[in-house]
Amino acid sequence: MIIGRSQIVGRPLSILLSQKGVDATVTVAHSRTKDLEKTCSQADILVAAMGLPEFVSAGMVKEGAVVIDVGTTRVPSNETKSGFKLKGDIKFEEVSPKCSYITPVPGGVGPMTRVSLLKNTLLAAKKEIYL
Ligand SMILES: NC(=O)c1ccc[n+]([C@@H]2O[C@H](COP(=O)([O-])OP(=O)(O)OC[C@H]3O[C@@H](n4cnc5c(N)ncnc54)[C@H](OP(=O)(O)O)[C@@H]3O)[C@@H](O)[C@H]2O)c1
Repeated sequence: MIIGRSQIVGRPLSILLSQKGVDATVTVAHSRTKDLEKTCSQADILVAAMGLPEFVSAGMVKEGAVVIDVGTTRVPSNETKSGFKLKGDIKFEEVSPKCSYITPVPGGVGPMTRVSLLKNTLLAAKKEIYL
């Protein structure tokens, strides 16, 4: 299940995961989804891409689920030199003991995105893609 239907994250991810060969049965939720908590708590894989810091609590997550946190929101913080902290959409502290795998924020999806962007840029520069 994916929370978020944006053109850059939720929607393309739903297409990739439902492709033949990957074969996930994908539910895409958004701000008008009714009873989000119930639907989320049935998901084997939960991807959060909302941009709402610490929105997803333990009650929304199935025991043993795989949780992928795409969200990155800057929230004000006195603890850092920069004056902000990066927060994901998941309440990491309470969700992590319940699930089998979880990606942290920062250090999870973000670095993977950067690697993919750099790789695609290199391939395009070498004219191996986007001819
Ligand atoms: N880690 C990375 O590499 C990476 C890459 C891209 C983006 N991001 C982060 O991912 C987050 C999402 O980015 P985006 O560009 O997809 O954002 P976006 O365009 O603002 O889309 C947010 C989605 O969340 C849905 N949503 C908002 N509030 C909700 C709620 N209460 N319940 C259920 N769904 C809700 C929205 O529903 P509606 O469609 O109904 O408005 C929308 O589909 C942001 O924090 C962004 O910074 C991270």
